[in-house]
Amino acid sequence: EKGGYDHFMLKEIFEQPQTIFDSLRGRLDAKNGTLTIGGIREHAEMLSKAKRIIIVACGTSWHAGLVAEYMIEELCRIPVEVEYASEFRYRNPVVGPGDVIIAVSQSGETADTLVAIESAKEKGAIILGVCNVVGSSIARLSDAGAYTHAGPEIGVASTKAFTAQLAVLCLIGLKVAIVKGSITKQRFQHLLDELDNIPEKVATVLKLNGRIKEIAAKYKDARDFLYLGRGYNFPVALEGALKLKEISYIHAEGYPAAEMKHGPIALVDENLPVVFVATHDSYYEKVVSNIQEIRARKGKVIAVITEGDQVIPGMADDIIEVPEADELVAPMLSVIPMQLLAYHIGVLKGFDVDKPRNLAKSVTVE
Ligand code: M6R
Repeated sequence: EKGGYDHFMLKEIFEQPQTIFDSLRGRLDAKNGTLTIGGIREHAEMLSKAKRIIIVACGTSWHAGLVAEYMIEELCRIPVEVEYASEFRYRNPVVGPGDVIIAVSQSGETADTLVAIESAKEKGAIILGVCNVVGSSIARLSDAGAYTHAGPEIGVASTKAFTAQLAVLCLIGLKVAIVKGSITKQRFQHLLDELDNIPEKVATVLKLNGRIKEIAAKYKDARDFLYLGRGYNFPVALEGALKLKEISYIHAEGYPAAEMKHGPIALVDENLPVVFVATHDSYYEKVVSNIQEIRARKGKVIAVITEGDQVIPGMADDIIEVPEADELVAPMLSVIPMQLLAYHIGVLKGFDVDKPRNLAKSVTVE
């Protein structure tokens, strides 16, 4: 049932070219320049007029929500807030008619997320669900939505569900943007093409598995890790740190790379591995400066970069090269090395990566 892999987690990481493809299939038609999302068809117009969108989720799904915040604000020019479901629900939030809530959940059963949308729905908000499990509680409670088609995720650490969420949230953003007229036809077509190419590029990243295992062996005994990224890659840094904590029990923190100098830089010494998500995007030059700041304090730099980068290889201790992609879709590529690094460190340390201690696949208590 693990399809020849040692663990479900590894199998699920390797399924991603297919699961992203499945989440796009029947929706994205790059050749004809069209996008159809059955589940939100009747709501696209309403969404395009939304005054604000609130994304509620937990854990990895919350990280997908953070990427979606950047996507939707850029594409649709609608303000987006991303909330931890648990915090959102307990503080009596200001929400009501005219608000759109997007609940993101792999299982569709996370209690905090479910209860958060129940109360928002009672107050008159429209709820869209982005769930992986068909017929799950969150999917049923939602007014509309779009499923991710990642297939059953068995590993407790979410991997393929995350990239499927990014794919579907990107489709939703693009649909709303084209209905609203907030992006040009050219940008729309370009992003359809970029999405269309993602499954193949993910397959290319997966070929780096052996290399990432070597990097894992080199750093597996570190006590702490720092993960840094900016823009679309900031949530990827958070996700990298979460994966490492869950699977290898190493303390890790994700931070926006520029925020580091406001505190965490005090942690940096020759024993601290710092993972930079530093692909070629509009933040690139700034991230290069942040790498220099870490180097100057003797931190070990592991950098995920775009193929052909001429600058960062000269500054980093280890590099992982991923294919070039538009920054909007790049997290689907840059997160793969994060998943593999955590996986290999966990395995090398002898832990049960499919069932990490103290964790359940879905958290059905508040
Ligand atoms: O099923 P959900 O997406 O609602 O689950 C949310 C979190 O519990 C989940 O992402 C958790 O953080 C994972 N263990 C992360 O790998």
